[in-house]
Amino acid sequence: PVLVVDYGAQYAQLIARRVRDAHVYSEIVPSSMPTAEILAKDPAAIILSGGPSSVNSDDTPRPEAALFEAGVPVLGICYGFQAMAVALGGTVEPTGLREFGGTTMTVSEPGALMAGLPEQQSVWMSHTDCVSVAPEGFTATAATAGAPIAAFEDASRHLAGVQFHPEVAHTPHGQAVLRHFLYDIAGITPDWTMSNVIEDQVAAIRARVGDKRVLCALSGGVDSSVAAALVHRAVGDQLTCVFVDHGLLRAGEAEQVEKDYVTATGINLKVVDARDRFLTALAGQTDPETKRKIIGREFIRVFEAAAREVDAIAPIEFLVQGTLYPDVVESGGGTGTANIKSHHNVGGLPDDLQFTLVEPLRNLFKDEVRRIGLELGLPEAMVWRHPFPGPGLGIRIIGEVTAERLEILRAADAIARAELAAAGLDRSVWQFPVVLLADVRSVGVAGDGRTYGHPVVLRPVSSEDAMTADWSRLPYELLAKISTRITNEVPEVNRVALDVTSKPPGTIEWE
Ligand code: XMP
Repeated sequence: PVLVVDYGAQYAQLIARRVRDAHVYSEIVPSSMPTAEILAKDPAAIILSGGPSSVNSDDTPRPEAALFEAGVPVLGICYGFQAMAVALGGTVEPTGLREFGGTTMTVSEPGALMAGLPEQQSVWMSHTDCVSVAPEGFTATAATAGAPIAAFEDASRHLAGVQFHPEVAHTPHGQAVLRHFLYDIAGITPDWTMSNVIEDQVAAIRARVGDKRVLCALSGGVDSSVAAALVHRAVGDQLTCVFVDHGLLRAGEAEQVEKDYVTATGINLKVVDARDRFLTALAGQTDPETKRKIIGREFIRVFEAAAREVDAIAPIEFLVQGTLYPDVVESGGGTGTANIKSHHNVGGLPDDLQFTLVEPLRNLFKDEVRRIGLELGLPEAMVWRHPFPGPGLGIRIIGEVTAERLEILRAADAIARAELAAAGLDRSVWQFPVVLLADVRSVGVAGDGRTYGHPVVLRPVSSEDAMTADWSRLPYELLAKISTRITNEVPEVNRVALDVTSKPPGTIEWE
């Protein structure tokens, strides 16, 4: 792989994704990893990411000189560029001119990194220090007003660095710079494609699972659906999927899983209708955390019972999970994040059933998972589905969850989603929760009569990873249409509001 050494910027994942966009497999490693361990992974190349520290302060993480002497091609970016300069004998100092954002760069000598690119180009900068003297053997190839050396390279040693951020979309030629590094300086053949990933994973799963049986909890979401389809491609009917219908799904979702998914994959699916059970357990509950805990607990119990039944027919040894690469990177990062909301996943498993996990998506980003889903023939509607929380509509009804309230929310939600899709905007919005303020009522007028109904809140958000989000600026015409349709077609709702809060301070869901 190409290893991206993470110096603590949020850019490391972006760099890894851009490398993969160039069809080269990449992984992220923490900057605390010793050089020997990095080299033991036999990297095809190494990229040092940006980071918040200054190379001139004492306690900053730095690459050792040995990293550059192993004959492995290295590209330094921003902080990584400066750290590389210092490690090899160059000088880094504050220039007095800080550069943040789009900056014009002049290429004096294209070298390998900037071959064929315009002499003047815009690059995205974010720095206070800069490299003032390049290490011996390096040619400075570009400059900006605040960075006399904005890029350098030593082609004979396969080393290069850039002060700017080639991984961000604001650097128009950034992807070309990365490709030049990967293909021309590092000599890597671009052969990381989704069909190769499918082939490799299918072989790996077969080798691992042999003739044993595998279980998967299907949620209807993209990750578990693609993971199951991949495992099914590898071991066929040795896989059984369990789908728990907890009654907190959106209109048409259970049917989609039951029909479309099974038709597309031929997977063995066991559907458990637990709608009444969840409603009973949720009766009278209004506290968000209590509701979440009840839903999580009931889910595990129902899944457990189903797993036992499947296991009784023939013992199950493996359990599929749709874990993605960002989760792996984040949990490896070891920084304990505060428990803002208790998220529910199929974590708790029956003690007497010992499963080994199969996580075929552990090395993949979400967009790659979607492409694999499409290659495996899953329906587009499923592959492009917005993320949906495990507790479902249960945490989008503010107040007690009842069958009647679920019906109201489902109707309003279906209208909002249909109109978003009709406007061609569903792929530009990350998620579009509709929230029912079930305990709030307001006065309205319909025809000649007074109404006393409930408000719903539209919560369209844009996001890269759900960690931060902004409210989506949907066109007024679309909002008007959704509002008119909901208030006309859902009699219990007489008011539609729009949530214009970013995350933070808001969260995406209301509970
Ligand atoms: P918040 O509301 O914390 O949500 O901004 C962040 C993302 O997580 C989803 N979410 C969940 N997903 N189980 C899940 O699988 C949960 O319990 C859960 N709660 C929130 C939410 O929809 C958003 O995408």
